[in-house]
Amino acid sequence: MFTDSHCHITDDSLYEKIEEVIQNIIDKKVTSCMIMCTGKKELERALEIKKEYPFFKVAFGWFPEDAKTITEQDYIYLEDVIKQGKIDCLGEIGLDYYWDTSFNDLQKEMFIRQIQIANAYNLPISIHMRESTKDCMDILKQYAKTKIIFHCFSGSKETMMEALKMNAYISFAGPITFKNARQAPECIQACPVDRILSETDSPYLTPVPYRGKQNQPMYVEYVAKKISELKNIDLDSLCAQISKNYQSFFER
Ligand code: NI
Repeated sequence: MFTDSHCHITDDSLYEKIEEVIQNIIDKKVTSCMIMCTGKKELERALEIKKEYPFFKVAFGWFPEDAKTITEQDYIYLEDVIKQGKIDCLGEIGLDYYWDTSFNDLQKEMFIRQIQIANAYNLPISIHMRESTKDCMDILKQYAKTKIIFHCFSGSKETMMEALKMNAYISFAGPITFKNARQAPECIQACPVDRILSETDSPYLTPVPYRGKQNQPMYVEYVAKKISELKNIDLDSLCAQISKNYQSFFER
């Protein structure tokens, strides 16, 4: 029923209790779930999980922070993983100017190169965009040729409209349930229902009423409920639509 388009369950903090996390996913009817891997160890863990539970999708890509240290070997590793058919999506990739703006150019270079790799293998991409809207949108407009998810979308309605022109999917996370969520309600109301996705970004961004606790994919229910309220669509129909959107993201 529920879709979590972006979670980090192979991150150490969730992986240490992975059996419980997966049981909760099953019990709470999270039937679509994409594991985002930011390193080799996480990817190996995710592939093991997928072997046992084939309903998971697996994504891998070099995170903006990696632009400082990326090597040719790392690009080769990424391409090998794709060639072997190990991943369903390239991500999360993008630009993050929030913590450190001293290596923006390196971030852009790595972002463009990963988009080009995705293009070469016709692989969809999952985008991390933080404090970098203009550069990120410019690069996507110029280079991206495959399907796009804007993960944990927190931009303005104008930015969302630009993203929709690229036929992107807009994925909403826990912060839409926070009292101070300002732009999210307006975005959700304006977003065509066939472009909406839900996610947790767990272990981060826990939705209300569990805000402050560690996040898990099972809590995506609260994100979906908030979207259904804002769109005034009953929860079952919304979840069916989101699940359909998620499947179509992987169609090539
Ligand atoms: Ni993430």
